[in-house]
Amino acid sequence: GGFVPGSVILIGGSPGAGKSTLLLQVLATLADKMTCLYVTGEESLQQIAMRADRLGFAKQPLHLIAQTRVEAILQAADSLKPQLMVVDSIQTVFTDDVSSAPGSVSQVRESAAHFTRFAKITGTIVILVGHITKDGALAGPKVLEHMIDCSLMLEGDENSRYRTLRSHKNRFGALNELGVFAMLEAGLKEVKNPSALFLSGRSEDTSGTLVTVVWEGSRPLLIELQALVDESVGESPRRLSVGTDAQRLAMLLAVLHRHGKMPIYNQDVFINVAGGMKITETSADLAILLVIASSYQDKKIPANWLVFGEVGLNGEIRPVANGIERVQEAVKHGFTKAIIPKANAVKKIENIEVIAVTKLAEALEYL
Ligand code: TYD
Ligand code: MG
Repeated sequence: GGFVPGSVILIGGSPGAGKSTLLLQVLATLADKMTCLYVTGEESLQQIAMRADRLGFAKQPLHLIAQTRVEAILQAADSLKPQLMVVDSIQTVFTDDVSSAPGSVSQVRESAAHFTRFAKITGTIVILVGHITKDGALAGPKVLEHMIDCSLMLEGDENSRYRTLRSHKNRFGALNELGVFAMLEAGLKEVKNPSALFLSGRSEDTSGTLVTVVWEGSRPLLIELQALVDESVGESPRRLSVGTDAQRLAMLLAVLHRHGKMPIYNQDVFINVAGGMKITETSADLAILLVIASSYQDKKIPANWLVFGEVGLNGEIRPVANGIERVQEAVKHGFTKAIIPKANAVKKIENIEVIAVTKLAEALEYL
């Protein structure tokens, strides 16, 4: 519901992800309502001013300083008394307390400790920017994890203009919120309809693809699941999942064999969640099994069908949270049929035919 006074927020991401752009937009927007200070250790004041100008914030009363010495930054903050302060980035600042170079583990840790203390004493909201290297390794963010109240990660494919902002830790609010943005000429812009984005470019004319809906924070998100089932040539078949839990896949396959009577024990099974999304919910169970069945039998599932539901060890289909809202999201995107748990089919929904199932075998038979 907003920034908590006195909290320390870390925003991480690889260089070029758009951290500085996002924070400049946030601060310039908030500058009307509160005193905001942007501390830059990476760009010159002129460069930031130019960027602000281009983003349409030339007249906003935002305070900027270019400084990398922690003691000098805190002195400036002491006299300005900002309510919100950004330090961009924690890898470029240094404190006199430590002799090692900026960016080193001890320097990052000690500098962050200074800012954390400042936030707690003065009630200032402090946002620290942290770079992650390609392999996700970098000292900074990992070292800071326990010190901060909230950790956000701005991620996106280098070749795509889309970015997701995700929380990995949040002491004062919901953890599973997801923000989706597009990097445009005029900075980052919120994508209001992420489902449409994740469904675009879908391969509609093949078997082994199916759409399910997951609950991301406070909203439903439609995503495409893909499966490839192929006769195994090795001694033990391969089971690989990208974007879903591998152990759960093994369990689901056993259920499919036993309760779905599908002899896939000698088949390699690959699962992929399109768009690089990660599914952590059990609500995708039924969709995972049906997309596997689709690939195994090489039968195409119509592109405007939606499937969700949790699958139990006895092949029973269990309800999931927010069932109605999930179906409604699918209706918005033109889906006409939904195979869902019977316990979720509690009310008639316009413009979609609901197939309510209680057993895995029923769903397979319907397919
Ligand atoms: P930046 O915020 O500097 O990334 P970070 O601070 O995470 O390293 O933004 C990097 C990229 O965003 C840069 O390659 C150019 C692009 N960009 C736009 O496409 N539009 C814009 O309006 C801005 C400011 C940047
Ligand atoms: Mg930057």
